[in-house]
Amino acid sequence: MKSFNISAEFEIFDSFDELPDKIVALMKKTFEAREKAYAPYSRFQVGAALLLDNGEIITGSNQENASYPSGLCAERTAVYYAGAKFPEAKIKCIAISATSLKRPVTSPVPPCGACRQALVEYEVKQKTDMEVYFMGETGAIVKAKSVKDLLPLIFDNSYL
Ligand code: THU
Repeated sequence: MKSFNISAEFEIFDSFDELPDKIVALMKKTFEAREKAYAPYSRFQVGAALLLDNGEIITGSNQENASYPSGLCAERTAVYYAGAKFPEAKIKCIAISATSLKRPVTSPVPPCGACRQALVEYEVKQKTDMEVYFMGETGAIVKAKSVKDLLPLIFDNSYL
């Protein structure tokens, strides 16, 4: 029997003061975006903002549905819009924040597994890594240098 180990390094920023202005601006866009969430069922509002290499910023929020699985997370709303509108552009980074109408969200909220899979598709497509920054409504911000760090052993087109 053989084994292998997977590790990844993440950075934690205790406040916006430690982040580049460009990332602070992107994260603030997620605050605006999550106000537009349609989340009457979970009352959990997520905002995502993508910075593209053409300078465009694309935002998205979670959109829920009475038939629960038909809803979509903020990250996929944003990344599919970016793919549809700017198919040639590369995504340099994504910022994510979340709030709840039920309780304070003070810990960083990472993207769900399905969103990681959706995001890594674009990382593979564009052949460059995408930085991922995520937080709650307050508190620390976590940075991953690549979606692959959040989703090791990815399933990608190399298996097809
Ligand atoms: N949600 C997101 O928008 N992104 C995630 O990565 C995790 C979950 C949304 C889906 C649903 O509308 C609500 O948060 C509660 O799960």
